[in-house]
Amino acid sequence: MKLTKFFSVIMVLAFLLAACAPAATQAPAKATTAPASAAKKTYADMTLCYPQLGAESDWRTANSASFKETAAKLGVKLVFSDAQQKQENQISAMRACIQQGVNVIALPPVVETGWEAVLQEAKDANIPVIVVDRSVSADKSMYASHIGSDMEIEGKRSAAEFNKLLPNGGNILELSGTTGSGAAVGRAKGFREALNANIKILDSQTGNFTRAEGKPVMEAFLKKYAGQIQGVFFHNDDMAIGAVEAIKAAGIKPGEFKMISIDGTRGGFQLMIDGWLQADVECNPLLGPQVMDLALKLMNGETIVKEALTDESVYYPDKAAELLPSRQY
Ligand code: AHR
Repeated sequence: MKLTKFFSVIMVLAFLLAACAPAATQAPAKATTAPASAAKKTYADMTLCYPQLGAESDWRTANSASFKETAAKLGVKLVFSDAQQKQENQISAMRACIQQGVNVIALPPVVETGWEAVLQEAKDANIPVIVVDRSVSADKSMYASHIGSDMEIEGKRSAAEFNKLLPNGGNILELSGTTGSGAAVGRAKGFREALNANIKILDSQTGNFTRAEGKPVMEAFLKKYAGQIQGVFFHNDDMAIGAVEAIKAAGIKPGEFKMISIDGTRGGFQLMIDGWLQADVECNPLLGPQVMDLALKLMNGETIVKEALTDESVYYPDKAAELLPSRQY
């Protein structure tokens, strides 16, 4: 009896050992998968969505090229679209990217308001959004980071130039950018804050950041305010280029109006060389490398800066001819 009991115990122990054996052999397998899943992501792993807002200006063309060229260089899969300056097209493009399951969305918002719903959808899908170039009014918790220019500073720098050019005051006109865009709102605000009280803004109309719309706005200004204009402030170089066509056609000579623009594109440099612009305030569109660097950090769970503002300056006619050949946009 005792012997039978002994053998039964041996059998139970042998069974228990056999049952435990697979678990023991699985342990090393787990150990090898853990480092693999923690491996750092590279650019080759990245699908980046860039729902570009349009192709309204030379600045925008350079911005699109910066994203396409950087993606090709780094091996990033870029999902690029052109919203033709329509917010609803940008939102549809973002939704398509969310559906597709991209890693990161970089959004250059055409206007400031109305992004909450789609930002929430991206958040729910665990897709971080980097706001690029212009700002959004949505709460900062809705997106990972904002990279771009300080539009208010650009407006302030433009005002400082007018303060120097018109020390005894005068009347100026403003060709503003797209209504409701972070660029137009910020530039107009900064400009008004820094402009001397003896300089009066006679009128402000949008030229939607395009040459085609800048020209008729200037034609209308020239008719309405003939003989009263000392200066013109352009929210971008493309509108300045369109407006100069109207100014030339009206028989006005370079330097008769003091004119300041924003961007620092080759077209703006040419206007300085030709005597039309007295200064061009820089706005840098070459944001592709910086955005992709931040996107990769996000994919690797690293913390990134909430706001990265581009370091920019002001260009003047005296150096324009020398600098033009090396301008990248
Ligand atoms: O948001 C940046 C602005 O948009 C640039 O100044 C302008 O040229 C572009 O269209």
